[in-house]
Amino acid sequence: MMTLQQNSLRNFIKLFVELHGSRPEVLSSAPGRVNLIGEHTDYNNGYVLPAAIHLRNYFLLSRRPDNEVHVWAENFRQMDIFSLDDLKPDPNIKWANYVRGIFYALKKDGTLLSGINGLVWGDVPLESGLSSSAALEVSVIKGLSELFGLTIDPVRMALLSQKAEHEFAGVKCGLMDQFIAIFGQKNSAVFLDCQTLNFRLVPLNLESKGLELLVCDTRVRRELSSSEYNRRRQEAAAGSEALQTLGLPSYKEATLDDLEKVRPALSPISFRRARHVITENARVLASVEALSRDDFEQLGRLLFASHESLRDDYEVSCPELDLIYEAGRDFPSCLGARLVGAGFGGSAIALIQKAGAPAFQQEILARTRKEGFPTPSFYEVQVGGGASAEHLDLP
Ligand code: GLA
Repeated sequence: MMTLQQNSLRNFIKLFVELHGSRPEVLSSAPGRVNLIGEHTDYNNGYVLPAAIHLRNYFLLSRRPDNEVHVWAENFRQMDIFSLDDLKPDPNIKWANYVRGIFYALKKDGTLLSGINGLVWGDVPLESGLSSSAALEVSVIKGLSELFGLTIDPVRMALLSQKAEHEFAGVKCGLMDQFIAIFGQKNSAVFLDCQTLNFRLVPLNLESKGLELLVCDTRVRRELSSSEYNRRRQEAAAGSEALQTLGLPSYKEATLDDLEKVRPALSPISFRRARHVITENARVLASVEALSRDDFEQLGRLLFASHESLRDDYEVSCPELDLIYEAGRDFPSCLGARLVGAGFGGSAIALIQKAGAPAFQQEILARTRKEGFPTPSFYEVQVGGGASAEHLDLP
């Protein structure tokens, strides 16, 4: 199993037996992600270009003879116990709602399961914009599917995981995070059209060019980020509806000239949200084209431009994220930098020459100290594979 050392797996199996008094039957896992570009476009029926990372969430599980689910989350050192006959979210245990939500989504879809014992743990940093929640949802649905021998089409799996997040975590997210957690491939980004769900792999030859993706986690967590996120969704929907009056089915078909035509029908805020979506879709297409030529300089310029648009038009940045973008602008070996994920705190990514990464981190640390911002964390991420699950053959 990827990145999971045999001795650490042995320890988790031992913990499982201690917790549940039975042996796990299945191990599943799913990755976090970075999104190269295409931010806040997924729920606007647009284009995205994410890549899975080597950091993952893991899930060990076995069947129970009753209708109860007992899941221990090692990262929180907490057990959640619930009955499949009474599935509802619990506002006091956030992580557990992603697990409960998967059972709920499967039940709504007509898949009735019996109870399980489970153990989850992972190394995707939490609430950092690297999609630890989708990694958890997808590892759970993958594990259940393997344990009970379900045949769920992978796209359906992504959609059910998204439903869990909508209905049990209250975030009206798009499909990008769940999709990449399932379809990610090593050394590739996934170019996805979120309207048709057509996708293709785009090779990401970073290492051969001496480049890396550096994740800079600001450690800023915005309390209201889910309500702000849901509000952005509504504000952007207004632009899309106005463009439909011109016969344009979605933002993907619209140009800035079209947007000018419907400007009188839009509030200034919805106009700016719409401008971000239109220009961001164009940047995704330009990035895919740049990557087809391994033109990372051009990709970097597009990353900077994406950040500017997220900061000014979509207004999902914050001073701590802007600092990383600005440090990137000033730093010669940084080709591009921008906030990643929903924003409102969380992480930024920098496309940087490997040799320059340590000095860049020092530069960011010096700037954050000067501003009195929280000390950021850094992760040099490798592009990893998508979700997997296997039956364990324990002696
Ligand atoms: C979060 C959501 C995604 C996407 C991004 C912004 O990560 O889960 O669906 O909307 O924000 O691009």
